[in-house]
Formats: sequence, C-alpha cells, structure tokens
Amino acid sequence: MEKIIKVDFNATRHFLTTGQIEQAFGNALKAFDTLEGRDGKGSEFLGWLDLPSESDKSVIGEIELVSERWKKEIEIVVVIGIGGSYLGAKASIEALSHHFDLYGKTFKGPKIVFAGQNLSEEYLSELMDVLGERSAAAVVISKSGTTTEPAVAFRIIKKFFEDKYGRKESAKRIVAVTDSSKGALRKLADNEGYTTFIIPDDVGGRFSVLTPVGLLPVALAGYDIKSLLAGAAEMAKITSERSENNPALIYAAIRNALYESGKKVEIFVNYNPKLQYVAEWWKQLYGESEGKEKKGIFPASVNFTSDLHSMGQYIQDGERILFETVLSVEKANRSLSISNDIQNLDGLNFLSGKAIDECNKMAELGTRIAHVDGGVPNIRVTMPSINEFNLGALFFFFEKACGISAYMLGVNPFDQPGVEDYKKNMFALLGRPGFEEQAKELRKRSL
Ligand code: PA5
Repeated sequence: MEKIIKVDFNATRHFLTTGQIEQAFGNALKAFDTLEGRDGKGSEFLGWLDLPSESDKSVIGEIELVSERWKKEIEIVVVIGIGGSYLGAKASIEALSHHFDLYGKTFKGPKIVFAGQNLSEEYLSELMDVLGERSAAAVVISKSGTTTEPAVAFRIIKKFFEDKYGRKESAKRIVAVTDSSKGALRKLADNEGYTTFIIPDDVGGRFSVLTPVGLLPVALAGYDIKSLLAGAAEMAKITSERSENNPALIYAAIRNALYESGKKVEIFVNYNPKLQYVAEWWKQLYGESEGKEKKGIFPASVNFTSDLHSMGQYIQDGERILFETVLSVEKANRSLSISNDIQNLDGLNFLSGKAIDECNKMAELGTRIAHVDGGVPNIRVTMPSINEFNLGALFFFFEKACGISAYMLGVNPFDQPGVEDYKKNMFALLGRPGFEEQAKELRKRSL
C-alpha cells in the first residue's frame, strides 16, 4: 500500500542501540494490540478510531447544507471553542488558506475567525469591531458545554448578534456543536432553536477533528471535507497493519525509545508557516494525552527557518534532553525561483534559477545534519503536499500514534485530570458559588 505519511528514523540510530530499538518495537506492538483490542485504559473513548470510515453521511450532508446557505448570506463566521474544540479546525484552515488574502479574493466561503480560546478583553472587543461591519454568523463548539472561555465569548457574541439582528434572526445565524443531551450549551441551543451538531460520546476533544467539531468550520471555509475524511480513512487502513512497517507504530516506538534514553523534550519542527497550527494541534494531542502521573515527553514546537534565528542556538548547543520530529512537505503547491542579478552585490547568483523550496529543503537537510551532530536525534515525517486528503491522513496518523505511544507509557490517553486544577482556582477567585472556602485559602497566598 502506497504510504501517504512516511516516517524515517535513520537519524535517531546513532543515539539508540539495536536492543533499545527492538525493545521499543516489541512494546509498541503490545500497545497497538491494547488499542486495537479496545481493552486498555479509557477504552470508552475510542470512537475516533472508526470516524474516517463510519462518518455519518447524513452529518456530512447537513454540514454541506449549512455551508451552502451561509456561503450566500454570510461574510464572516466566528468559530467559538478552545483546545480540542478549536485547534483541529484552526490547523486545517490555516494550512489550506492563502497567507495574504487581505481582500478575500481566494475565499471559497465566508472568512472564518476564532474566539473563545482566550480571555482577552481586547481580542473580543476588536472582534466585535469587525463583526459590526459585516454580515456575521457564529459556530459555538463545546463538548462539555460548560467550558468558561468559550461560554464567556459566546455570551458576549450572542448578545451582540441579538442587538444587531434581533433574537429570531440571530438564532438562524448560530450553530452549536455539542453533546447530544448534556451540558449548558445543549440546553441553551434547544431553548433558542439553534441548528445543532453532535460530538459523539466516545470521542474526546483532542481526537475530534474528524467530527463536526473540525468538519463544520473547514466546510464553511470552503474546503473539501470529503477529501479530508478520505485521507483519514486511507491512513486508518495503513495504520491498522500489525507490523513494523506501520508508520504510527514506528513513530510511537522511536519517540518512546528516545524518551527512555533521556530525551525528555520533543520539538515538532516545520518548514512551512502554514503548518504552525498543525504543531499547536499536535502539542495538545500529545501533551494532554501523555503528560500525566509525572510522566510524558514534553511537546514543544518551532517554525523553521524563522526560529533557527531565535531557538537554533539552544537546540544546537543547549541541554541535551531534546529530540526533533521534523514535518517535511515533499512538494510545494506554488513555484517560485530566485532570479539572476547582473550586479550580484549580495553574492547570491549561485542561487539563480533555484526554487525557493529547494533552498528550504537544503536548509532542512543542513539543519538536521547539524542538529544530529550536536546531539539531537531526528525523526522525519513526510507528507506529499498540503491538501485536504493529506491533512486528513496526517491527523489520523498522529492520533493513532498517540494512542499507541500513551499506552506504551502506561497512561490513560483519553483523560485530562490535570486541566481541572486551574479551573477550580479561577472559579474560586472569581467568586463562583460553592467555592468560598477555596477562595479564602487562595487569597491568603501570594505568588
Ligand atoms: O481534549 C480535550 O478534551 C480538551 O482540550 C477540550 O477539548 C477542551 O478543554 C474544550 O472542552 P469543551 O469542548 O468541553 O469545551
């Protein structure tokens, strides 16, 4: 079977013995069996494994209906959500969109903007400056329906819409993506008569990009969600192979072998600014799935070549606890060559006629060699080009590898108990009823 996503771990071999690699592959196979056998920790949240092939056709149809309707009437859609209810859509839309479309000439759908992923007063105020001037709609996404950041943003935007359009018209401009029956957002959506989409019970936030959580915003932006799902389905087939050729198994095995050997920080490297939010999505996926019980690789990211001029020094020469996973795109979607200059004052005529992407690839190769020489093992993940199909494959690849990898570590990949602590403190400090005692204790403390 042709591999869409390839994993090359040659540049980790100097850092691992054959025994360590063999042992990691053995452990990865056991973890793979646990995942596929659906009997490991958190196995009630494995619905994402079936999403690419079983995505409900009627849901796709309903998503397309909303996007057809809004394409005609709406200029800007605010997608409200945080964490897993935000990053997959943001990563996809950033990857697929023109970098500089200031006037919306290349948009195939309304302009998509995001909110509810912070608590910044400036952010929401400035967003409303923009919404006031355009025909706007909103998608509010929250599985629990109770997360503070999106709930606050939605309260503000709902009021803004109702003041601008009236309550009845606002209800037509708001879609909610949430649980089938639980949570405040479900109740509110039912009361107001919003169109709703369901996040399946057995799919957690950071594994939900292939549900309406990711699919609706991506479709609204005008991109091909059937192709995204087809890529994921293809990767689901490839990564179901119980063998050492399975790219998800290779990635999980090698990153765990490196972790065991003392490399505690994994830096996700990309050479394409369109993939910056794929790195953010990846960080959440791995950080929240693995960082528990005082264990787990710390996921970090850099954007090269920009960050070679800021983080390059540390990576080359700082503390040797790092390894890199480089996401490399084989073929650029545009072509641009460097021109010849008769004066050649910058001395760059040796580059004349070369594609910018060739320079990018040589920067990548040169950097990988330098970092390996400096003691930073390198895993290289390649995708053929940036499009919906390959992105779908990439998402599924990383999700599958994450499930295997977290089981190798012995943790439950599908819970996030550590996220609750900050929330409780914040609620107490903001005076939420029921948190009075905790508030008193917190106020005595100074940091
Ligand atoms: O992966 C997760 O479960 C989290 O990141 C959630 O997606 C995030 O906290 C948002 O939660 P909710 O969708 O319930 O608002």
